[in-house]
Amino acid sequence: MDSASLKTPSPARSAPSRRAFLAGSVAATALCARAWAAPRAKAADLHIEHLIRRMTLEEKAGQLSIFRSPVANMRINPLGRRDPTRNDALADVRLGGAAGYFNGFDLAFNRELQRVAVEESRLRIPLIFAADVIHGLKITFPIPLGEASGFDPELCRRTTRSAAEEATSYGLHWTFAPAVDVARDERWGRVVEGAGEDPWLGALIAAARVRGYQGEDLRAPGSMVACAKHFAGYGGVEGGMEYNTVDIPETTLRQVHLPPFKAAFDAGALTTMAAFNDVAGVPCTANRRLLTEILRDEWRFRGLAVSDFEAVIELVIHGYAADEKDAVAKALAAGCDMSLGGDLYRQHIPALVREGRLSGTIVDEAVRRVLRVKKAIGLFDNPYRSLDADRQAAIDRRPAMIALAREAARKSVVLLKNDGGALPLRKSGQSIAFVGPYVSDRSNVLGSWAVYAEPERAVTLEEGVRAALGPDASCSFTPGCDPDKPLDGGLDAAVEAARKADVVVLYLGERERITGEAASRVSIVIPPHQMALAEAVATTGKPVVVILKHGRALALTGAVRDAQAILCSWFLGSESGNALADVLFGDHAPRGRLPVSFPQASGQEPFYYDHRTTGRPQMDDAAAFKARYREVTNEPLFAFGHGLSYSTIAYGSTIVGAPRVGRDGVVKVSARISNTGARAAHEVAQLYVHTRVAAITQPVRQLKGIRHVELAPGEEKLVEFELRAADLAYVHPDLAAHADAGVYDVWIAPSAIAGEKASFILV
Ligand code: BGC
Repeated sequence: MDSASLKTPSPARSAPSRRAFLAGSVAATALCARAWAAPRAKAADLHIEHLIRRMTLEEKAGQLSIFRSPVANMRINPLGRRDPTRNDALADVRLGGAAGYFNGFDLAFNRELQRVAVEESRLRIPLIFAADVIHGLKITFPIPLGEASGFDPELCRRTTRSAAEEATSYGLHWTFAPAVDVARDERWGRVVEGAGEDPWLGALIAAARVRGYQGEDLRAPGSMVACAKHFAGYGGVEGGMEYNTVDIPETTLRQVHLPPFKAAFDAGALTTMAAFNDVAGVPCTANRRLLTEILRDEWRFRGLAVSDFEAVIELVIHGYAADEKDAVAKALAAGCDMSLGGDLYRQHIPALVREGRLSGTIVDEAVRRVLRVKKAIGLFDNPYRSLDADRQAAIDRRPAMIALAREAARKSVVLLKNDGGALPLRKSGQSIAFVGPYVSDRSNVLGSWAVYAEPERAVTLEEGVRAALGPDASCSFTPGCDPDKPLDGGLDAAVEAARKADVVVLYLGERERITGEAASRVSIVIPPHQMALAEAVATTGKPVVVILKHGRALALTGAVRDAQAILCSWFLGSESGNALADVLFGDHAPRGRLPVSFPQASGQEPFYYDHRTTGRPQMDDAAAFKARYREVTNEPLFAFGHGLSYSTIAYGSTIVGAPRVGRDGVVKVSARISNTGARAAHEVAQLYVHTRVAAITQPVRQLKGIRHVELAPGEEKLVEFELRAADLAYVHPDLAAHADAGVYDVWIAPSAIAGEKASFILV
């Protein structure tokens, strides 16, 4: 098919906006109510009702099933099932047997599938095409956890917007993102996909990412449907082991794990994905409490809930359903509208309804939700949206997107330590040995879930440094070892290179494959042979700057922990090497903040800053019979919120505006912050709160606000926050969230363990 025949028909008339689609948002309730009452919205519903009345049970079951594309780029079959071939898919679509396809985006083939759907199937219902667009499609941004280090929701909105612009030009309508799981155990590989350990920051970033994907107008060519996942509690898997059970009380679920979901739905996310895990013995795929009582009845979510990959059959494996049919009945009855991969819904729904084992009303409601999503993005009016070769050609590698990838990457770098001002490095007059398995490596640049990206176009550290320094640069690049094994003669070559240099930059850490899905680790350390390289280099006595490559917080030891400077660089995406050079040579000062706490040792996990106080908290290292481990202190090696710049920042006292405040009042909390160094700095001031006495004991601190402050050398600024009773609310034993009267401690601080405490009373 030539590109002329792939042109998109002229844009369709305007229709209900994303806001109008979801009345679930508290903030948007009034707006939504108005929009749903509008004649056009009613007409949309009438069309859907008309379709549902005409559909056979088989067609309904088809609309509740999305299949992995025959042209999928990623093929993992944990349960050994077969994906449809191209011909299967075309035949299925002709019979109205599929809602859409995911993870494959051959534009010409998808356009042909769509043509068959809207020209040859009985009811002409368009298909929806989906994929995991997690941190970009071709142009890759930092892994979501890394990007969360920016503490910058607007940056997250811009990168997800850019990803949506690109993905929609490749034929996609729906992304299985953002992952909004709060993750507090760094052994869990999927920490990489979320925004870290904090529910407040997680909620802010979840909403921003949804706004980016979905945009202001869902029908715009660059907008795609977002999917807040994995609902719910996935980040709480026991022992950090992937797919493991989750056993946390609903109070904690509501206070810690659900807020980012609520924020995503309030921002308009049209879909959610049920998590693989169970919560207290009930798998999320069939968890009525989560999928219906909380999501729909309480939050008024009107969107679509899809299962995770082939998770319906897993209900049998979990021991929650007797057989395939039972699994389908239980999942649908609980509120899991669509099955992702596998065709159990399609196979069993018609018989289950005919046998009276599944209510037709439930099936109709699920179909309604699917069709509403298709309608919301304009597929009925313009089924070829996103399938336009000309638009793809115009968007391909747009310079602004590449520039954004570089900006996001450097804003994601966190400077953990910088003894003696080892960084920034000088561009000349200094010879630098770049040592480590990643200095010239291109296969571990992008990070987990960059399945559609182009690693061959990713910028390595060597390329970034050479571009920054020009041809006369005095530097060497020596791997020293492979990411997961030693190299013959590697150590000697590395030591030799270090000896000849004035300073060593050691680039070490995790390779892609040990981060992400199905990549839980027992011990979150730098692999031993890489540590041997670090120790060997340290024997030269040369100053060492460590750059970490990682998808989680790490337990750092020995020569890495003791290096003069440490940069946390995650997996930075397509522009990694350029961004690292920007930071190393001081063209851009680091400004990122840790969204996860770095422990002293792996055995402390789950390790997070907003833990509760025990009856025997550790007060100092010498005290016995305290809540602590024998070998290490409870203090983090690097705290949540920590991150240095190339200047020094001083925080004044935390000041509260009034000692007492009423329930309807506002407490002003402020502090003076000054740049005491010689370079400009970008500071991220953080507001933390502690509730002294509560019906459920509350964390030692909780993040409640952030402010980005630019400070010139010597400059001082007043940073102010406002706190209301709603900000002090916690989930009570009866599951209601509200604030109690009492004493509250507050800090304005550069990290979760710093700052000066002040207090006020809520009356
Ligand atoms: C993951 C999901 C993903 C799905 C489809 C699953 O294994 O858990 O996050 O969206 O695959 O690729």
